[in-house]
Amino acid sequence: MQALDPFGSIYAKVGSEKPFFSLVEAFYALVEQDEILRPLYPEDLTPAKEHLALFLIQRSGGRNTYSLERGHPRMRARHMPFKIGQKERDAWVKNMNQAIGETPEFTPHKEVMQDFFSEFATFMINQPH
Ligand code: HEM
Repeated sequence: MQALDPFGSIYAKVGSEKPFFSLVEAFYALVEQDEILRPLYPEDLTPAKEHLALFLIQRSGGRNTYSLERGHPRMRARHMPFKIGQKERDAWVKNMNQAIGETPEFTPHKEVMQDFFSEFATFMINQPH
């Protein structure tokens, strides 16, 4: 299914969880400074980091601890409590693209990851503005 889901084979290619945790650290360091996104997140970002890392490990073909701990991903439903319009989506994608750029292990997978996050983030939009 690689042609249909290239993101789903990234874990096997990278072969380690470490870059996923590095990516999430880099991403949330940017969120911490982001005036559009920071207000949407709780004060303590530690659980959000853990959940995003485990979700990405699972979604890219690694261990399925995310679903064991959190249940079915239902990402769109889980994001409904937060107002996500185009502006929030674009800020999220910009920070994630920068975080990918700061994680050298992902350099060969940059394009696949950027496409995946771009589409996924658009799907999270739940507000007209
Ligand atoms: C489009 C803009 C997005 C915004 C503004 C946003 C915002 C948020 C917020 C505020 C939370 C809750 C954090 C917490 O309670 O600790 C969250 C959770 C989460 N988000 Fe996003 N998000 C966006 C897109 C995405 C995308 C594209 C992905 C994945 C590719 C993603 C994956 C997750 C995951 C895995 C969680 C944790 C869910 C859980 O198990 O509770 N988000 N997001």
